[in-house]
Amino acid sequence: MDLTGKVAIVTGSSSGIGQAIAETLTARGVRVVVNSSKSKEKGKAVADSLEGAVYFHGSVTDDNFGTDIVQLAIEKYGRLDILVNNAGTTRVIAHSDLQAATTEIWREIFDVNVFGTWSLIRAAQEALEAGPGGQILNITSLAGIRQTGSSIPYATSKAALNHLTKLLAASLAPKVRVNAVAPGLVDTPWTKDWDDVRNAYSKTAPLQRSATTKDVADSALQLIENPYLTGTILCLDGGMSLKR
Ligand SMILES: NC(=O)c1ccc[n+]([C@@H]2O[C@H](COP(=O)([O-])OP(=O)(O)OC[C@H]3O[C@@H](n4cnc5c(N)ncnc54)[C@H](OP(=O)(O)O)[C@@H]3O)[C@@H](O)[C@H]2O)c1
Repeated sequence: MDLTGKVAIVTGSSSGIGQAIAETLTARGVRVVVNSSKSKEKGKAVADSLEGAVYFHGSVTDDNFGTDIVQLAIEKYGRLDILVNNAGTTRVIAHSDLQAATTEIWREIFDVNVFGTWSLIRAAQEALEAGPGGQILNITSLAGIRQTGSSIPYATSKAALNHLTKLLAASLAPKVRVNAVAPGLVDTPWTKDWDDVRNAYSKTAPLQRSATTKDVADSALQLIENPYLTGTILCLDGGMSLKR
């Protein structure tokens, strides 16, 4: 599929996986709305480094986030073709420590990962349906498929996004395709201090390493470029799910 001239929003693209997806899409001729909530200067720098990109500062939890970022895409480019829901948050809590996983923490994680994503999808629906080949790509997690992940609230939020992907793929077809990449461990600033987890992953996963952001961006591009894929959750885990 020729992506030249298309327009994408990539939430949480000042760093890690989102940045790699923004770079990969730009290399295919896509104009990208880069976003972050705290790292404003880094987000601006990423946008400045990408041809045709623009930066939007805000949290997916902000009340008007969805309408404002979609409006920016429409005002600047006149269209929106691809929505990548990548922004996410977690807390590291042992799965056996139920007392530490308070309702407040559940709300904090669901506010970003699930409700923020849902609000943006609602705000983007009309623009995505207006053009040919609108699509949504959700960055979920192996934690939403298997009994793993940084905490139960996080894993459950990603399971919700996996199911949301399938529900929306069915309900928005044929106008809008909806897919997800569900990575295992990826080397990003998020996991920079997780050496024990990385070493354990390298020992257990059949492909003997964690993923790079390029691995994830390449998978995102495969889903985006294939016009016959919808409702697909691409489990990108180096074979780890074969082991658990
Ligand atoms: N790394 C892994 O092993 C792994 C595995 C599976 C899935 N994932 C998923 O991949 C996604 C990206 O993670 P990453 O590892 O690339 O992390 P990262 O390097 O820390 O990047 C996270 C990005 O999201 C932004 N962000 C966080 N909260 C936001 C909010 N409320 N609104 C808008 N932007 C927000 C961050 O910028 P600000 O903080 O400035 O807002 C940053 O740009 C997450 O959804 C994560 O769950 C990661």
